[in-house]
Amino acid sequence: MLIMNDKKDIETRNDLLLLMQEFYKKLLADNSINYLFTDVAKIDLAHHLPVLVDFWDSVLFQSDTYHKNAMQPHLALHQQSPLGKHHFETWLRYFKETVDDLFAGDSAFNIKERATSIATVMQIKIKQLS
Ligand code: HEM
Repeated sequence: MLIMNDKKDIETRNDLLLLMQEFYKKLLADNSINYLFTDVAKIDLAHHLPVLVDFWDSVLFQSDTYHKNAMQPHLALHQQSPLGKHHFETWLRYFKETVDDLFAGDSAFNIKERATSIATVMQIKIKQLS
């Protein structure tokens, strides 16, 4: 039997923007993690989402649009309000769910792998602070 899969892969910056918008809807609706964005870091989504698009465009497609150190703001955030294992589990769960809701293919697979490994490194670096 032919299994039809009508989802496309992540291909464009617009795809990444849609992914980030939907991912952040989930993060910001969950009280176990949303305060880190709204109360602690006080992010401006209109500024933040395009930075995330630059980041993922560089990670997935070597676009060279992100030139900062993504670890640093998270270490600073942790010093203001501790980031625990459960925050990373929640972040990754929503990230993977959003990818799978919207996309399928090699890049969809890769972005989940990269997110998982970057989250692991982030937690190691956070542990090294204390
Ligand atoms: C517990 C999990 C996480 C939380 C609560 C979190 C929260 C945040 C917050 C609040 C900011 C804004 C910081 C600021 O501008 O002051 C931020 C920025 C960012 N986050 Fe995360 N994050 C998490 C995990 C991750 C992971 C695993 C990745 C990558 C795989 C990631 C990628 C980024 C990037 C690229 C930025 C932009 C950094 C910049 O401005 O250059 N985050 N995050």
